[in-house]
Amino acid sequence: MKIQHNISLKPYNTFNIDQIASSFIRFEELQDVINFVKSGELKSVKYYILGGGSNILLTQDFDGLILHPDIKGIDIVSEDEKNILVKIGAGEVWEDFVEYTVDKEWYGIENLALIPGRVGAAPIQNIGAYGIELKDVFYELEAINLKTGELEIFDLDRCDFAYRSSFFKKKPGKYLICSVSLKLSKLKSLNLTYKVLSDYIANLKVDEITQRMVFEAVVAIRNSKLPKPEVLGNAGSFFKNPLVTNTKLESLKIRYPEIKAFEVDDKKSKLAAGWLIEKTGMKGYREKDAGVHDKQSLVLVNHGCATGKEIFELSEKIRTTVFNLFDVRLEREVNVL
Ligand code: EPU
Repeated sequence: MKIQHNISLKPYNTFNIDQIASSFIRFEELQDVINFVKSGELKSVKYYILGGGSNILLTQDFDGLILHPDIKGIDIVSEDEKNILVKIGAGEVWEDFVEYTVDKEWYGIENLALIPGRVGAAPIQNIGAYGIELKDVFYELEAINLKTGELEIFDLDRCDFAYRSSFFKKKPGKYLICSVSLKLSKLKSLNLTYKVLSDYIANLKVDEITQRMVFEAVVAIRNSKLPKPEVLGNAGSFFKNPLVTNTKLESLKIRYPEIKAFEVDDKKSKLAAGWLIEKTGMKGYREKDAGVHDKQSLVLVNHGCATGKEIFELSEKIRTTVFNLFDVRLEREVNVL
């Protein structure tokens, strides 16, 4: 465990943006994090926690210390005939772990296949896709308090999960997540509530739907719309789907009867931000190497040499254009450094 200097962050962000961090430290053991924090070195420096970098846009060099959690390990904490409690190191790759659970026939996260990033980042934005959110299988997590160096346990309540949000998203930099424990089912239970997924499965015309079929369906759907960061830099959905009142939705429907929305409750609905952006005509739009993906407008991409600033400026242009057309404000999902 040693501090490195002048490190390119290109391998550490899925937008593939080349910015330099003045210093960088990798943690492979929980105890190393504790020792480092207790040494007091963090007190005098500006720092930022960067895992797989799959939800961040770097817009400038970072004159400070990058903390890179890389703690590995998959451990069964307990199990009975119905459930299994698994503890996963924050540095494990999320999509590999999902595949592992499908191999083991542990049910619960097959719909979250192929989401880029590390396990430790999953609770921060409460990752979600195809009808499931991390909070649905979450048990607890271990995090180090970066002020005191103490290990603290966060249960479901303490994490304060919401749509693409959590305690950690609201209070960035206070804790470093070291492991996440999930409660998965050993009994077959599948979630096919998301229409795109259930339509895909229905088309398979099979008598029995298996977990692997659901997993493979999610992989196929994602691959058809979402670019692979190794090929085309991106951080998944750049914006959240905005929440509007049902009154506002009704007024939008007068002008746009085909608008895509999901009812949240009898007062509010979520609009598909991808649809809003597509309707402005910006799907596939490009300014130099910063672009809107041509298959899913909610995803901004780096066609090669875009800077973080260029992608940020494009995102601002999208927000203004959407606001001018629909009077709806898009909120970024991706963190901007
Ligand atoms: N749509 C368009 N044009 C577009 C994109 C979408 O018309 O360019 C329409 C689709 O046809 C569909 C609706 O919008 O009717 C919703 O699209 P999709 O199923 O692709 O989902 P999304 O709402 O755009 C959300 C998540 C994704 C997640 C998918 C599937 C957010 C911000 N995004 O996208 O999560 O994979 O649902 O559950 O909630 C991520 O967070 O990085 C991410 C990729």
